[in-house]
Amino acid sequence: MSVEILSLCGAEEFARELESDARAGLTRTPKSLPPKYFYDARGSQLFEEITRLPEYYLTRAETSILERVAGEIVALARPREIVEIGAGFSRKTQLLLDALGTSGGKRFVPIDVSSDALEAAGARLTARYPWLEFLGVVGDFERHLAAIPRSGARLVCFLGSTIGNLETEARVPFLKSVRAMLEGQDRFLLGVDLVKSPARLFAAYNDARGITADFNKNVLHVLDRELGGDLDPEAFAHRAFYDPRHERIEMRLVALQRVEARLAKLELELVFDPGDELHTEISCKFRRETVAEAFRGAGLVLERWITDEPGDFALALGRLS
Ligand code: SAH
Ligand code: AVI
Repeated sequence: MSVEILSLCGAEEFARELESDARAGLTRTPKSLPPKYFYDARGSQLFEEITRLPEYYLTRAETSILERVAGEIVALARPREIVEIGAGFSRKTQLLLDALGTSGGKRFVPIDVSSDALEAAGARLTARYPWLEFLGVVGDFERHLAAIPRSGARLVCFLGSTIGNLETEARVPFLKSVRAMLEGQDRFLLGVDLVKSPARLFAAYNDARGITADFNKNVLHVLDRELGGDLDPEAFAHRAFYDPRHERIEMRLVALQRVEARLAKLELELVFDPGDELHTEISCKFRRETVAEAFRGAGLVLERWITDEPGDFALALGRLS
């Protein structure tokens, strides 16, 4: 068993990127920040809690599909390695790793911006699978996919509907970079949350315990800690709503009062009037045709489309066209 961590984005580079993203995002109208900054150690833990909430059906729905088809998918791809994009703690991925073990595969390569999540996954998974070569890659999936070293036939996974957090225009370029990771009979397994009743979507992002609100506000803790800020997270309210025209959840932080704050490291003064919003995340919802079209645009063929019983969530299996 072995755990290796490869850093494609060191702490200093990540800090510089946060500085430039914060400066650009907080000085435009409306103010916005990329969602990758949610996931420090606390943000990753809060996301884990979200996955267990009664309202957040996504993780349970995707797990139920994987329980049914993980073996079949691994048998089809016959990978030497599973690469997981935006892996987090890789809990659902265990269903694929169970199958990898029986089909003779050896390596698991998760890539994530959160080194905390990767390290925790490395310890847990190598204890569970003594044969596993674990190579955790600290990096940005919008920039570093091409630099992930290859050891043989691949199954590339992108679970949890994290693709829905990308801007719509970024989707096909992202899928092209996934396509470039594939050779021959390699496969790509994508998890997507499906369009459904606005009430259920609203509830999934407005849980009764307020964990999603804490997750949303965590980005302000990150700004305060990393950029010497004095933003008070409690001066903001969590807001998430479903936009039926774009078929996506919009997540924002809304100033409850006038907020005057400073990010010392950027020498940047910030002013929010009451009701001013900071856009923190979009979460697009999908249909089979949207995914098939995005795959086509990226040079991939949608080989299988598997939904859970109620049709809440889908796994899309792609291969080179
Ligand atoms: N795949 C897991 C976790 C989803 S949460 C699941 O399905 O439950 C989203 C994960 O993507 C987090 O672990 C976060 O750290 C990671 N992430 C978000 N933006 C990223 C980026 N640009 N590059 C790499 N990882 C990113
Ligand atoms: C990681 N990602 C797919 C989650 C989602 O549902 O868009 C992040 C999240 N945001 C609020 N709740 C969960």
